Amino acid sequence: MKQQVTILSIESSCDETGAAVLTGTLGSKSPQFKLLSNVVKSQIPLHKKMGGVVPEVAARAHVQNILPVTQKALTDARVSLNPQPKTRKPFIDLIAVTTGPGLIASLIVGTEFAKGLALGTEKKMVAVNHMEGHLYSPFGEEFPISNSQFLNKSKAKNSKSKIEFPLISLVVSGGHTMLVLMKSEREYTVIGSTVDDAAGEAFDKVAKLLKLPYPGGPVISTLAEKGRPSIKFPRPMLNTKNYDFSFSGLKTAVLYYLQSLHPLPPTRYPTRDIARSFEEAVVDVLVTKTLRAAQEHKARTVTLAGGVAANSRLRKTLQAKCQMLNITCLIAPPKLCTDNAGMIAIAAYFKLRAGYKPKNYSSLKADSTWELQ
Ligand code: KG4
Ligand code: ZN
Repeated sequence: MKQQVTILSIESSCDETGAAVLTGTLGSKSPQFKLLSNVVKSQIPLHKKMGGVVPEVAARAHVQNILPVTQKALTDARVSLNPQPKTRKPFIDLIAVTTGPGLIASLIVGTEFAKGLALGTEKKMVAVNHMEGHLYSPFGEEFPISNSQFLNKSKAKNSKSKIEFPLISLVVSGGHTMLVLMKSEREYTVIGSTVDDAAGEAFDKVAKLLKLPYPGGPVISTLAEKGRPSIKFPRPMLNTKNYDFSFSGLKTAVLYYLQSLHPLPPTRYPTRDIARSFEEAVVDVLVTKTLRAAQEHKARTVTLAGGVAANSRLRKTLQAKCQMLNITCLIAPPKLCTDNAGMIAIAAYFKLRAGYKPKNYSSLKADSTWELQ
């Protein structure tokens, strides 16, 4: 039986406070949903001064931001928390929240806030893994998928209302780098991950070496636009038989390169060329291994998600290579790449479609080490 469900989601696992509202249909053959709002209050200006996220500062900022952000998400969506008999405005049925992984103090703020809302409004809850949020974000703000979300348009005409499996997903964020094989909407396995630094972490650390501000990814990416790929940095683990990644050696290669420039002052470093050469090395490894996995598992779709998926060279390269192999390429819209609650609502919707039973508030608990399997 078909049933309409409206979900309020909360995300506070790192340094972005987010709340979103999604409405969708349960019991339909293919997914049907729409994000009605997705509000993010970024803490980047706060952490920039310290060159990275300070957990205690992040948690305090979440406490300050979470109420206004949630209020705005409800207002933007034109949805109320509880039924309003006079206005007959749509209202929230379920509350979803990221309970892990992430910074524990930050997770506790979002989790306990969401539990309080659930207790006060007598609603059931959906506990969502942050990485599962990233994993489902390429399915976008609305499903059936609009043409513009399919990057190789030739495939869009006949694939709009269904996702073709098997699917390989590359999830690249500040804390994780994962290759995931999805056999169906809910059946997935992590087939590769990083053995040391995550891709986003490498961008952030290399930016620090280059005395660039936090977060490093967007700054390096902007500088790389104007640089030449003239420095041959290594492609770690490019040819290993598994689907694991390693980025700390690449960061060390950048450090050695900078040391080799001594006694040149940092102001004379070829920063744009370093940024471009480093970015190419990261993109090369990520795209090559993703497509190898796609070919081995006969994937019909490749998806890309996570903060690093905002990188335009990575987006363009993956899209072009998928097109050559006639594989559908689905990339999370930029708004759903960096941390946000919209992706948490999308993941909650897919969990419900797969039969997840919403829980009582008392059984939810923040878990900073909750890993996807
Ligand atoms: O997914 P996300 O917002 O947070 C985590 O779950 O970690 O990812 C943040 C990461 C940071 O390391 C940031 O430098 C990186 O994503 N990032 C980028 C770009 N925009 C954000 N990396 C490369 N290019 C970008 N344009
Ligand atoms: Zn994230």
